[in-house]
Amino acid sequence: MTAHAPEKIFLSDYTPPNWLIEDVGLNFHLSPTATRVTSTIRFVPNPAAASRDFFLHGEQLKLISASIDGTSVSPKVTEQGLTCDVPDHAFTWVAEVEINPEANTSLSGLYMSGGMYCTQCEAEGFRRITFYPDRPDVMAPFKVRIEGSDPVLLSNGNPTASGEGWAEWNDPWPKPAYLFALVAGDLIARDDTFTTMSGKNVDLKLWVRPGDEGKTAFGMDALKAAMAWDERTYGREYDLDIFQIVAVSDFNMGAMENKGLNIFNTSAVLASSDTSTDANFERIEAIIAHEYFHNWTGNRITCRDWFQLSLKEGLTVYRDQQFSADFRSASVRRIEDVISLRGRQFREDNGPLAHQVQPDSFVEINNFYTATIYEKGAELIGMMKTLVGHDEYYKALDLYFTRHDGEAATIEDWVRVFEDSTGRDLTQFRRWYKQAGTPRLTVTDDFKDGIYTLNFEQKTLPTPGQEEKLPQHIPIAVGLLGANGDEVLATQILEMTEDKQSFTFEGLTSKPTPSILRHFSAPVILDRDSTPEERAFLLTHDTDAFNKWEAGRALAKDVLISMITGRSAPTQDYLGAITAMLRDDRLDPAFRALAIRLPGQDDLAQTLADGGVTPDPLAIYQAHQTLRQQMAEHLQDLLPRLSAEMDVADAYKPDAEQAGKRALGLELLMLANRLDGGAAATAQYARADNMTLRMGALGCLLEAGKGDEELADFRARFEGDALVMDKWFAMQVAHAAPEKAAEIASTLTQDSDFNWKNPNRFRAVFGALMMNQAGFHDETGKGYALFADWLIKLDPVNAQITARMSSGFETWKRWDADRQALMQAALKRIMATENLSRDTQEMVGRILN
Ligand code: TRP
Ligand code: ZN
Repeated sequence: MTAHAPEKIFLSDYTPPNWLIEDVGLNFHLSPTATRVTSTIRFVPNPAAASRDFFLHGEQLKLISASIDGTSVSPKVTEQGLTCDVPDHAFTWVAEVEINPEANTSLSGLYMSGGMYCTQCEAEGFRRITFYPDRPDVMAPFKVRIEGSDPVLLSNGNPTASGEGWAEWNDPWPKPAYLFALVAGDLIARDDTFTTMSGKNVDLKLWVRPGDEGKTAFGMDALKAAMAWDERTYGREYDLDIFQIVAVSDFNMGAMENKGLNIFNTSAVLASSDTSTDANFERIEAIIAHEYFHNWTGNRITCRDWFQLSLKEGLTVYRDQQFSADFRSASVRRIEDVISLRGRQFREDNGPLAHQVQPDSFVEINNFYTATIYEKGAELIGMMKTLVGHDEYYKALDLYFTRHDGEAATIEDWVRVFEDSTGRDLTQFRRWYKQAGTPRLTVTDDFKDGIYTLNFEQKTLPTPGQEEKLPQHIPIAVGLLGANGDEVLATQILEMTEDKQSFTFEGLTSKPTPSILRHFSAPVILDRDSTPEERAFLLTHDTDAFNKWEAGRALAKDVLISMITGRSAPTQDYLGAITAMLRDDRLDPAFRALAIRLPGQDDLAQTLADGGVTPDPLAIYQAHQTLRQQMAEHLQDLLPRLSAEMDVADAYKPDAEQAGKRALGLELLMLANRLDGGAAATAQYARADNMTLRMGALGCLLEAGKGDEELADFRARFEGDALVMDKWFAMQVAHAAPEKAAEIASTLTQDSDFNWKNPNRFRAVFGALMMNQAGFHDETGKGYALFADWLIKLDPVNAQITARMSSGFETWKRWDADRQALMQAALKRIMATENLSRDTQEMVGRILN
């Protein structure tokens, strides 16, 4: 056990920096094991600071020399950085350090990936490159000179000069160090240009390793679409002569918004129909937009400190969701976003890792790049837009951009902008940022003398460190339907601010059916007793696509929960309703595909636990199996015709229309697969000319315990393609029968292609194991043990990934006593590991609490 708990950092301790920076010059002399970095920094006293003490962050740096105004100095160096006596006026600091990129497996700072140099500085990686005040409220223009033998040498900003073995870059926009980037390697670019709304030409370059050129077209198109969209929608124009993206194989997250030089995980940018699924294309488009949008929401306006992380991430997720909604079906996107919100953020909010959108303290900031900061943060923006309305929202955003451009701002600044711009009092709304946990909203209704009343009650359960909860300001979008299915009241926004609140609707001739929380207008759990008939009625008639889908999901949940708890299940209502829904060819195939997908097993476990029932992962898995079998049998006659309708004759395009047809086609294939012994899936695999259909078919075969031949074929075809091999690894675990999942995962870790230090490959196997709920939670505990073994092994190599993935254990309190004991034992074993990173210590500590 480690001797002492790692140190916490508090928002309330914030003080402005003692020194500000006028400009920075960096000189890199690259070498895999001994890179030299010389920094020349002009420091000026900060008039807003009380002290002139001088501290620079720095980790794992070898200090070669340091001087102030040309006089050599001897700073005091510790593990965290250095202190030095300095003048009490402006001065120029020059320091030279040596670093070892090849030994850097953490993928933070300057490291090597497949022979190329690259950097990742968010959140606190720059301090592993040189000594610097590595905090986002210190912003400066950077000039960079790179010397090295690689043909391509890149950094932020505009290129100013280059020659054989060197290149110089100038970034005129003041930025915090976390947005610094450097890339060097043997790379080739897809080139393009974009003309901005004021007529400026911007060079676009998407850099990849030789061999990947064929996978860059889609990313480039997405980038241009995002640039045009941000001009159109938010009036935001790009501000440098060049915008570059680099694809890197070893990367901890999806991508990074470094000023003018975004660095992407290959999985978040490379796309081709042979190697990427429709879902991959959709994700890539969203991430490219997300990183590009950061240029304004994150870079031009950055965060004062890391407690403000959601200021840039929540807003930028909201913006990328808007972008995707505009380019694809808005309602389908909304449903997908909510599925992911519930699957990741609600799960987080409901367990030991629950935290505020603006936390009060943290140990390791990398542990706070969470669904709560990102996705719940985005929901808060959406609610603000709902409350103030479309026009007022964009007016407020204009004020935000003019008022805070060039600043390191706070969430408070953001809310204040909305108040100043719209005149609304958002005092209560601020609670959404400071109160963790998902509010539960219970609803009852009654109808008397032509007056219809909806009674709401809100309650948020205690979360770690926050026992008492106050009522939230909740925008509830409501519509009412008459008995014939017509809408008698179009969508209205009710504003709930009290613990209990009723709303009345007059002038109705009969009791309506309410459609509540349309478009998922607030991130809450809606609890309403309803009948299968009413759910089926809403699935048929609701004009709000989200709630139409929601009705089907609620009905499916009723069926599954009843099956699991041994009550009589409204299966016939469900089967009848989805048959009618599937037959309705006015409905978008993508919508129909979502509407017949069963609620996830994690969702069911959570619902059972909420209702006081200890979930049994195997029973949940079996209920899924049983209902899918019943669906297949019930839909038997419809399947062939409908499947044929979903065939796409045209050449592959990753657009929403084709993707929707393929999605529904695959849902139907999964059902047909239960009846035909795998015949249709085998045939589809054989004729597939794109990855979506190929992978869909293979998944079906694996699900049926078949597909050995196809699996071998898949590997032979794609052996050299790391991103496709990730799929090969993941699929085998994801589709394994529960009792086999851990063994299959374990065998795969012995495979010669299991490069466990590569985050994509590690996640392929272990991310899939966690998704296979019944497999991971196998009663013997072998899933937990295997996972713990590998987390312990990964921790010294890559603490960030280890800590993030340890959240696979976050639900431990939900399960039965035996599983709890096994999970606890695994967690304690991790915790007892010698020299465990502070990242993982914090996470496992919080999970165990
Ligand atoms: N800012 C990045 C984004 O949201 C996230 C990110 C990329 C990141 N790489 C990281 C965060 C490494 C922490 C550590 O787009
Ligand atoms: Zn982001």
